[in-house]
Amino acid sequence: MTKQLVQMNVNGRRIEKAVEPRMLLVHFLREECQLTGAHIGCETSHCGACTVDVDGQSVKSCTHLAVQCEGSDVLTVEGLAQGAVLHAVQEGFYTQHGLQCGFCTPGMLMRAYRFLQENPNPTEEEVRSGMSGNLCRCTGYQNIVKAVLHAAAKLQQTEKVAA
Ligand code: FES
Ligand code: FES
Repeated sequence: MTKQLVQMNVNGRRIEKAVEPRMLLVHFLREECQLTGAHIGCETSHCGACTVDVDGQSVKSCTHLAVQCEGSDVLTVEGLAQGAVLHAVQEGFYTQHGLQCGFCTPGMLMRAYRFLQENPNPTEEEVRSGMSGNLCRCTGYQNIVKAVLHAAAKLQQTEKVAA
């Protein structure tokens, strides 16, 4: 199959690769960029394990073609921390025990990251609704919700200090 050139910014790094037009974004990230944080669970847009951020929106990368991201800014879980400093959502999942096996976690973190930009001060119910496209088969959702609320509080506190 004829390959097509695609270029995008992934975690702030410009990537240009020739790929088959049918290549999914999740495969592009994992195989072409060696970023294996986005996991492949269902491949049918149900589980959210493959969630990344594309141009400021949560995207399930198993149902998005790499060539659709031409010129886009893509953020994956590998780009969340600033050096050794965890992002608030990572800290939330860590301190509130929001994971067990960790398979769903990269997708959860990326969805939580975007959700808290959409709704910086959510209620518990809003967290449940905002995260409902991401499934966890082992932790249960209590601690995941707590983790997102913890991250929301941390982000608000950080903003107050910066203001
Ligand atoms: S692997 Fe993409 S939603 Fe499940
Ligand atoms: S922590 Fe195992 S699937 Fe969520």
